[in-house]
Amino acid sequence: MAGAQVHMSQAIFPAHADHLGLLSAGQLLKWIDTAACLAAEKHAGLPCVTASVDDIQFEETARVGQIISLNAKVNRAFTTSMEVGVKVTLQDPLTDVQKRISVAFSTYVARPRCDEKVVLKQVKLVTAQDFIEHNLAAERRKIRLGHGDVLNNLMEEYGIDDGQMCNQEEDVVSTDLTHVQSIELVLPPHANHQGNTFGGQIMAWMETVAAISASRLCHMHPTLKSVDMFKFHGPSAVGDRLVFNAIVNNTFEKSIEVGVRVEAYNCEEWGKGQPRHINSAFLIFNILNEHGESLIVPRVRPSTKDGLRRYHGAIARKKIRLTRKYHLLKKEDSCIPEFWDGSNKRSLHNSSEASCLESFSTF
Ligand code: COA
Ligand code: ADP
Repeated sequence: MAGAQVHMSQAIFPAHADHLGLLSAGQLLKWIDTAACLAAEKHAGLPCVTASVDDIQFEETARVGQIISLNAKVNRAFTTSMEVGVKVTLQDPLTDVQKRISVAFSTYVARPRCDEKVVLKQVKLVTAQDFIEHNLAAERRKIRLGHGDVLNNLMEEYGIDDGQMCNQEEDVVSTDLTHVQSIELVLPPHANHQGNTFGGQIMAWMETVAAISASRLCHMHPTLKSVDMFKFHGPSAVGDRLVFNAIVNNTFEKSIEVGVRVEAYNCEEWGKGQPRHINSAFLIFNILNEHGESLIVPRVRPSTKDGLRRYHGAIARKKIRLTRKYHLLKKEDSCIPEFWDGSNKRSLHNSSEASCLESFSTF
């Protein structure tokens, strides 16, 4: 048996969609987290928690009446953590057309109730694709665990020029206008089967707050294009108050980076002690016109030292995302096992090049 797999099919109903009848990104994040967690638990045979979700790109929008298929598979077990890949496709029952919406890579840690660390069994590799994913999983792990250091090094290289805080050009908008704060009380329907706040629910709340922040900049409805990693720093549970703070960090020609930080208080800490930092993520939005074309977005000006640091952080993250994609595509080639015959190798090579061009054109 190869890595544990889970298949999930969901019909998109109005309750899953926004005011335009399009599938909400938050709902999709919930389904991705559920499918991935079930695959992780199938492999581990134990309850698992989401440690992080790597960069995700959303390539297509889906609407009410269409079907979403999720295929989740454990690619590799490390020591106590494992990588799960989730491929999301869209099917239209009327036309039978299928399109890829997204591929997500999440990391799960097996956490039995007593909090002891559990060493996971290895994934058995059967097909050439299993080998490729197994090798790439190690590359992706290096990138995700080293992300913080790479970001800090890049930020040091940039140096920070206070002049950007006083940019008074007319078409430049102050990031202050995009600040959003929101609070959620975690209730039983928001918890997973272990009583912790469901990771997918936290990501969905983050997406909602980030979308409100982006809409304050453009006064239009933004579309989520990608997410630069969700990292779950610590658990939260039923009864916690989760406070979400979001602000636009920077804009590029046709995209907006919104950062969201989530902090948790329990009932006793509320209004007194230090909150627990639960998650931070950076979401990239586009503004689309009625033909689905991306519009140019306003430039922004930070107004505080922290804002200026985040403004540069957004530039550094964009650079890391592009480099990471290029690096993984090159590795994908070298990961094809020796026993794999030449013609298949060539066709995989060509599809890598095609998806490389595709990835670059999304920025
Ligand atoms: N991304 C990917 N893997 C990560 C990670 C991250 N951001 N942070 C830690 N890990 C991995 C480590 O590499 C290690 O894997 P390995 O044993 O295979 O090498 C494993 O997680 C445990 O790391 P460790 O440093 O020993 O544990 P920790 O005390 O930092 O705990 C979590 C890690 C994820 C268990 C902890 O941060 C946590 O409970 N987070 C909240 C989880 C949650 O509530 N999720 C949402 C609801 S399910
Ligand atoms: P960093 O400040 O290094 O980016 P944080 O985890 O503190 O990391 O915050 C993540 C993102 O959340 C920030 O980049 C910012 O966009 C947003 N954010 C954090 N704190 C606030 C706040 N007090 N008000 C508005 N947005 C915030």
